[in-house]
Amino acid sequence: AQATCHGINGLGISGPLQDMTFSVSEGTTGVHVIYQFTIEPPAVSLRLSGEKDDVIEIASTDGYLYLNGSLDRENKAIHRLQVEALNVMGEKVKGPYSITINVQDINDNPPKFEKSKYYGTVWQNSHPGKPFLRVHATDRDDPTTPNAKLSYNILHHFPNPFKWMLFQINNLTGAISTSEHGSRFLNPQKQATFILVVTVKDLAGMSENALTSNVDVEITVKENIWKAPPKVSIKENSTEPHPISITQVQWNEPGAKYDLLQRERLSRFPFTIDQNGTIYVTEPLDREENELYSFFATAKDNEGEELGRPLLILVQVEDINDNPPVCQNALTIFEVQENEGLGSNIGTLHATDMDKKNTLNSRLQFRIVDQNPKIPLDSLFIIQQEAGTFQLSSSSLNKQVVSAYSVTVEVTDKVFTTLCDVKINVIDINDQIPIFEKSDYGNCTILEDTPEGEVILEIQATDADEPFTGSSQIIYQIEEGDQNKNFIIETDPQTNRGFVKINKALDFEMSSTYNLTVKATNPEPLVQGVQYNSSSIAYFRVVVVDANEVPVFSKNTYIADIFEDVPIGTLVMTVTANDPEGDQIRYTLENNKRNWLEIETVSGKIYTAAPLDREAEHDYKVQVTATEENKKSRSSTAIFIIHIKDVNDNPPRLAKGNHLFFCHPLRGGVKAEIQATDDDEQLYPPELAFSLGGSENIKSDWEISRIDGTRAYLSPKHTNLEEKQYSIPLIINDNGEPPLEGDLNLQVNVCRCSDEGRCFIEVGNHSGMPSTGMAVGILLGVLIFIGLVVGGVFLRMKNKKRKELKKNAPKPSELKTLT
Ligand SMILES: *[C@@H]1O[C@H](CO)[C@@H](O)[C@H](O)[C@H]1NC(C)=O
Ligand SMILES: *[C@@H]1O[C@H](CO)[C@@H](O)[C@H](O)[C@H]1NC(C)=O
Ligand SMILES: *[C@@H]1O[C@H](CO)[C@@H](O)[C@H](O)[C@H]1NC(C)=O
Ligand SMILES: *[C@@H]1O[C@H](CO)[C@@H](O)[C@H](O)[C@H]1NC(C)=O
Ligand SMILES: *[C@@H]1O[C@H](CO)[C@@H](O)[C@H](O)[C@H]1NC(C)=O
Ligand SMILES: *[C@@H]1O[C@H](CO)[C@@H](O)[C@H](O)[C@H]1NC(C)=O
Repeated sequence: AQATCHGINGLGISGPLQDMTFSVSEGTTGVHVIYQFTIEPPAVSLRLSGEKDDVIEIASTDGYLYLNGSLDRENKAIHRLQVEALNVMGEKVKGPYSITINVQDINDNPPKFEKSKYYGTVWQNSHPGKPFLRVHATDRDDPTTPNAKLSYNILHHFPNPFKWMLFQINNLTGAISTSEHGSRFLNPQKQATFILVVTVKDLAGMSENALTSNVDVEITVKENIWKAPPKVSIKENSTEPHPISITQVQWNEPGAKYDLLQRERLSRFPFTIDQNGTIYVTEPLDREENELYSFFATAKDNEGEELGRPLLILVQVEDINDNPPVCQNALTIFEVQENEGLGSNIGTLHATDMDKKNTLNSRLQFRIVDQNPKIPLDSLFIIQQEAGTFQLSSSSLNKQVVSAYSVTVEVTDKVFTTLCDVKINVIDINDQIPIFEKSDYGNCTILEDTPEGEVILEIQATDADEPFTGSSQIIYQIEEGDQNKNFIIETDPQTNRGFVKINKALDFEMSSTYNLTVKATNPEPLVQGVQYNSSSIAYFRVVVVDANEVPVFSKNTYIADIFEDVPIGTLVMTVTANDPEGDQIRYTLENNKRNWLEIETVSGKIYTAAPLDREAEHDYKVQVTATEENKKSRSSTAIFIIHIKDVNDNPPRLAKGNHLFFCHPLRGGVKAEIQATDDDEQLYPPELAFSLGGSENIKSDWEISRIDGTRAYLSPKHTNLEEKQYSIPLIINDNGEPPLEGDLNLQVNVCRCSDEGRCFIEVGNHSGMPSTGMAVGILLGVLIFIGLVVGGVFLRMKNKKRKELKKNAPKPSELKTLT
């Protein structure tokens, strides 16, 4: 039995005979121990029966339950066995106990497509994402594990005329549909068949170790007959019986459900579609209500899914002459001076027709049908047939005889006729001109942002003709100086006062002054011999003030020098900005990253707000903003830089020599170099002074000697220092203004050294054989030594090298330390 179980020792899982359940991975090779049953007397061996399938075995006298070969989950996922304990006679003394072995899946089965090739048909322009074919693959591995989780993907399609994929696949279901691009660009006239290479991967497609299969899918594209019909034209106000069929749409296959979809919100929607796709208009249309209808026709399947894109249906409503002319005013009033002569233009009658413009349906013609009174004669007036303009047919008006005439005009569009009423008042002659109260109204200063419609000036002229007639009414017009029509003048009909208003927003940058000439005239013409003269003309000037200009700083960049040690609250500089409009200015700081500065809002005085530190930043830059104090509050910015000047505020510090050591027992003349540095600005090479601090003991054991401004040697004064770590107080003075001292502690080891002159540090106490602990100790020593070599403190020279050094280094005392 021992031999049988070769290679299966070391497995600690064992226990007494009882009912057991095990999980075992499929696909194991060779011998694989599952468990060891302990055999207790009087039992001497075990017997296994059940679904052993020639793989599950038991070593009868050792109790090992093992596999010899592999199980296949796809063949049998659960094995049920029994085990019994037998005595020397081969008789059962215990059991049977049931053994259940669950076989765990491994990914040992690739996915397989159900067909070796798939064929599908798709309509041109079919809805993107709407599946037309499904591919399906199966995987024999355990469906509850990723081993059987399949993911589909389109690898290529042939041909591929665009840079986009024309088809897409749902990676979970294998459903194939057109992509957005495919829906637009597939065209059987150009390419009617495609081959897709579809791949399926297990492990949810997420692993490089996934198993894969491919299949070809052949797709035929069929031409789409689901196309928008041409625009339909319908005559409005149709008297035919409705509904009337106007056009038709048709889905590629029978059985589609058609519907219409409104595009715009309409009070009524007079169209329907039947299940043959025929579209009807349901009632007479009115062009004057809506000239063009646009809506969509849709085709859906039985589930209500859209089969294709909605089609745009356009219906144009054609005009017929179904609207009568309409008088613009219920009563139109004209004035005519009693002295006016034949042909004199009196005024124009206005009428409209709702039918389509610039067609005969809306062409209007005028005719006078009645005049009252007919004194001194009928047909005193003539009307221009096409334009509706009134003229005098004779010069025989007399205000004392008839002061007003009523005239009836027939307006026709050839189908409909409308009558309009006109009153013509006979008025005094216009022999007086408007006279301005003054000819120069001076300067009128206004802000650039004065709103449109605001009255900026009132002007007055008077006219001595008959009040409240066209002879005395005044029209003010700007004759010169207003090319852009920025101003308009309105007249109060009661007083003839003129109000100059802003017509269009002013722009200071375009024009800052306007020199304006105003002329006052009457709507009625002047009698012969009288003319407007300079008394009907007035002048005034408009001066535009720039509404709001940004404040202007006295400089773009302000620079100040300051020592880094100034107290908080020191005035650094005053910045000033002026506002062209004279507004108060408020100052703020931005980008004040370290909050070192603050500014007085009103005065622009900049103060320090925190201790400065040149060593942190020597040019400190902030932005000053000046903001106007008004509604619009425009602002501008300037840069403020302080150059922070050094003061001696950093004590010297050690740059080299933090860990020094000397080999024990000490030899005479050994020394170690230390180097210091100072963070303050150095205009000249620093002159540092090194000295020892601490007690007299220290000074009697150690001494320090200058090399140069930054370096010194530390050396023991005698050779009988004991083997330990020393802490030696060191004072470094920078001789600055004021002088600063750095107080440091040098850690110096006096230690046993290895043969190569490396410091050897013993780690812990060990007796007997060299232990790992000791090895670590030596290693550590070496590491520390490497650190020292880098620090340039400790060197060990071989004889050969010593000669070379002699050439370079003149001091023999130094060499003595090096063995
Ligand atoms: C495993 O099976 C092989 C072949 O059936 C046989 O030769 C070998 O002895 C078996 N090993 C064990 C440990 O049962
Ligand atoms: C499967 O498709 C979904 C949705 O499109 C996507 O989020 C997922 O990453 C895809 N899985 C793989 C393995 O490509
Ligand atoms: C649809 O067309 C068929 C055949 O032309 C016709 O028999 C049927 O009446 C039509 N259906 C409708 C609702 O018009
Ligand atoms: C239709 O025409 C008749 C005259 O032809 C007119 O009276 C009616 O107002 C018109 N209807 C619409 C809606 O225009
Ligand atoms: C304004 O125009 C008048 C008449 O055109 C002219 O006499 C006058 O000098 C002009 N004034 C200015 C300031 O341009
Ligand atoms: C303008 O004409 C009126 C009379 O129509 C006259 O009184 C006035 O003096 C004239 N003004 C000038 C400046 O000539």
